[in-house]
Amino acid sequence: MCGIIGISSNKSVSANIVNSLKKLEYRGYDSAGIATLSDGKINEFKSEGRVDKLEQNFDLKNLKGNIGIGHVRWATHGMPNSVNAHPHSSFNVSVVHNGIIENSTVLKKHLVEQGHNFKSQTDTEVIVHLITENLKTKDFEVAITKTLKQLHGSFALGIVFKDMPDLIVGARRGSPLAVGYGPNENYLGSDSYALKSMTNKVTYLDDGEFCIVKKDQVLFFNEEGKKINKKILELSSNEASYDKGDFKHFMAKEIEEQPNTIKTGIKEYIDKTNSEINIFNFPWKVSEINSITLIGCGTAYHSCLMAKYWFDELTQLDVNIDIASEFRYRKNRFKENSLYIFVSQSGETADTYAALDLCNKNKMKTCAVVNVIESSIARDSKFVLPIHCGPEIGVASTKAFLGQILILYILALKLSSLRKEITKENYQEKIKDLQDLPKLIEKSLLIDNDIQAISSTFNEAKGSMFLGRGFSYPIALEGALKLKELSYVHAEGYPAGEMKHGPLALIEDGMPVVVLAPRDSYYLKTISNMQEVIARGAKVLLITNKIKDEVVSENIWETIEVENTNNDLLPFLLTIPLQKLAYYSALKKGYDIDKPRNLAKSVTVE
Ligand code: F6R
Repeated sequence: MCGIIGISSNKSVSANIVNSLKKLEYRGYDSAGIATLSDGKINEFKSEGRVDKLEQNFDLKNLKGNIGIGHVRWATHGMPNSVNAHPHSSFNVSVVHNGIIENSTVLKKHLVEQGHNFKSQTDTEVIVHLITENLKTKDFEVAITKTLKQLHGSFALGIVFKDMPDLIVGARRGSPLAVGYGPNENYLGSDSYALKSMTNKVTYLDDGEFCIVKKDQVLFFNEEGKKINKKILELSSNEASYDKGDFKHFMAKEIEEQPNTIKTGIKEYIDKTNSEINIFNFPWKVSEINSITLIGCGTAYHSCLMAKYWFDELTQLDVNIDIASEFRYRKNRFKENSLYIFVSQSGETADTYAALDLCNKNKMKTCAVVNVIESSIARDSKFVLPIHCGPEIGVASTKAFLGQILILYILALKLSSLRKEITKENYQEKIKDLQDLPKLIEKSLLIDNDIQAISSTFNEAKGSMFLGRGFSYPIALEGALKLKELSYVHAEGYPAGEMKHGPLALIEDGMPVVVLAPRDSYYLKTISNMQEVIARGAKVLLITNKIKDEVVSENIWETIEVENTNNDLLPFLLTIPLQKLAYYSALKKGYDIDKPRNLAKSVTVE
């Protein structure tokens, strides 16, 4: 999604703006641009494509200006090209924007009537002309407050003014924005990651707020334009974790990091000595909760679905799951004894945040399972369970998925124990099994040769299917999502038992089908469903777990065996081959693995 950077300094800013834009590349984008102020002029440069292309097209090294803004754009209104790229400028104002202005058409009509000329097809250009118009009659801060009130929709903005060469205005509604503090300079960024190489001291703007960033001072305002004070936070994680190291792609690194993700999660949440789960500061009594709703998008939604199977297995709680973009507009019946859990890697996903906001407004119990603990979702939830998996840069979520399902499994176990729905022996046995999980994941990762060979069949196919039942069904959905987003091959995840109600018609000779059939209570049923697709010509890749018994089936094209563990934990291991299958398929096709087309890491617009 679009990324914003702004720097106000006592020295030239273009090099640092370009560096920060490169940090924002992970969000996914299609064009880039920069504007600085010097000698009473706005210097605006933009290009379609990557930041490298912007650097090649223009001599940014010699670009003057101690104040500037930069942007990477993920197209919403208007094609990805250099005209629609940000910044957008009038003769006196230049703007970068992340979000969507919903009333841009109406505003544009008025502005055109007032004589403003538009160059692009974007909604953003409306903001530029609106500020220019409001500055004609209003004082500076009043003009900003008025402009922000006229905008409907979501935005994070960075704005510079030809006649005020010492300041940048930042504003937030819906889309995240952070201010950073450095020596003789201050910054504006879409996230702290963009600012990381320059500072670890940040302040997050809350919805409706705006700020004025000068090199030696930052002022904050509420939506009425009144000055407010805000806290400065010190960030912890180190810059090294943002490096690819010896890996070709962040995704490859992040897949291999998963034993560590699980180890860290276990260290944070499990007290080995007492075989106990360290979730002590839960702000509600268990007797106050009789139902749970888990909400997320994409992979995070798959984590919610996975968790439902565990909660159903381990507790008597009534558990629902929902896709955030559906939940936020549905007529919901908010119940006092419900716990709402929001699952998100970035903690900034617009739909998930809106669903949380709705629950908060209805005074519900809200809990976040997030990776980025400084994020909006973490800050606005009443209780936070961090995933602790470190920065995830590859757009396709891998280690964050395992991190999310680990925390949700641990929470299900804890609630089961607190509600006395699991025996002490069973509880402790499951905690013990968890401690072996990092090693089992490590071993299950050693399948590159097999997967590489198999992946060509998936590349060349018209379409593919991923089937599973019970605990394996959410993993089938996740495997299909990974393949489609990375190698652009049509892939459907389906409950294996549902195939004969329609999708079986898709199966034709040679179609690759992944069947997840670990030796759990669903095994024999899944194997029967597998036979039905084999009988219709499917090339089946069976993924199961290693046990002594042979697989009771014939005509399987390929089999991959992951390590063995208890039934609850098998989904962690089944995920690994599917991540690698997607990775190697995309690698063979030469696609941009860390930044698949049309996608963004942090989905901060609806
Ligand atoms: C898929 C993927 C996305 C995200 C989704 C939610 O690989 O990464 O489907 O899971 O956009 O993002 P977060 O978890 O940041 O809320």
